[in-house]
Amino acid sequence: MFDPDRYDNRMPYRRCGDSGLLLPAISLGFWHNFGRNDDFQEARKIMHRAFDRGITHFDLANNYGPPPGSAEENVGRILVEDFICHRDELVISTKAGHDMWGGPYGEWGSRKHLLASLDQSLKRLRLGYVDIFYSHRPDPSTRLEETMAALASAVESGKALYVGLSKYPLKRLKKAVRILKDMGIRCLIYQPPYSLLNRWPESAGILDWLQEEGIGCAVFSPLAQGMLTPKYLDGIPDGSRAARAEGFLQPEQVLAQQQKIRTLNELAVAHGMPLHHLALQWALRSPAVTTAVIGARSVAQLDDCLDALRAAPLSEALLAVIDSIAPPAAGKDTDA
Ligand SMILES: NC(=O)c1ccc[n+]([C@@H]2O[C@H](COP(=O)([O-])OP(=O)(O)OC[C@H]3O[C@@H](n4cnc5c(N)ncnc54)[C@H](OP(=O)(O)O)[C@@H]3O)[C@@H](O)[C@H]2O)c1
Repeated sequence: MFDPDRYDNRMPYRRCGDSGLLLPAISLGFWHNFGRNDDFQEARKIMHRAFDRGITHFDLANNYGPPPGSAEENVGRILVEDFICHRDELVISTKAGHDMWGGPYGEWGSRKHLLASLDQSLKRLRLGYVDIFYSHRPDPSTRLEETMAALASAVESGKALYVGLSKYPLKRLKKAVRILKDMGIRCLIYQPPYSLLNRWPESAGILDWLQEEGIGCAVFSPLAQGMLTPKYLDGIPDGSRAARAEGFLQPEQVLAQQQKIRTLNELAVAHGMPLHHLALQWALRSPAVTTAVIGARSVAQLDDCLDALRAAPLSEALLAVIDSIAPPAAGKDTDA
């Protein structure tokens, strides 16, 4: 059913920090395009194509859809129907912490939320365990000890093989990693937004610190939700994420970045590549980055992005020009 040559070096696998786990340089995320409102057959084709092209890491969260939970339901069905013999070839992650269900236990970082959510995710995904369970965002009102103990319980109960943290600012991240360590649990991986339009993990010193600590890094939205493709050069096309009501990307965000996007596009074209290839090669240039988690609305988009891996690494001279257009200080520093 799947390409028997899928592990023929078409996809580089990179070590996740100093752990034993390898992840594909590009992973597939299910935030958009896999919910109940999306085309199920296209979703299935995207997953198949991803696996055929060497993607072994699928990134989910409890609330992906819309509606929340429906991406996990769809993926669960596809896993059971098509991937049942390949479970051990896949690293599947999920997360808890953002709004999921009503009432006081449906979000944030309490033990109650995290462990109930993990049980729900496993049911929707039709899995006995996930490979990575993340705290999806820091909770300003819950003691880190409680959230980290819930992650540790996920591992100890066998419902997750590893744990990760997403979007924690550096100071809180350091403390959380220390608490986990004291409980005998390693933080395998950290998940921040990172792209040419948002370099805060770099500015805040997070990438350097992760590398020192041997913690892997899965950067999300490396195409800035599609802004680092040629699609928004002349406005907001119909059907794009910024044009769709359920899309997280707002037209104002696109308009605010348009000049920079155009300048980066000209640079990419002058170097013989499309903007998204430049953006993906750039995100992967850092040794601190284990994998770039992309989204795709079609098989064609997925293929187009994966072709970035065939491009030569960006030269120092080109990186310097990129720095002058999109300097490291750009983007929000959430570590304030
Ligand atoms: N931890 C967290 O808090 C968090 C937050 C956000 C995301 N994530 C993870 O990161 C994953 C990726 O996020 P993302 O979807 O924002 O990533 P992205 O790769 O920056 O953007 C993906 C979008 O770009 C457009 N696109 C992709 N390839 C294209 C191509 N070749 N040509 C034209 N347009 C193209 C598509 O949007 P159109 O619909 O406009 O075509 C696609 O849905 C998520 O699925 C999730 O797993 C994690």
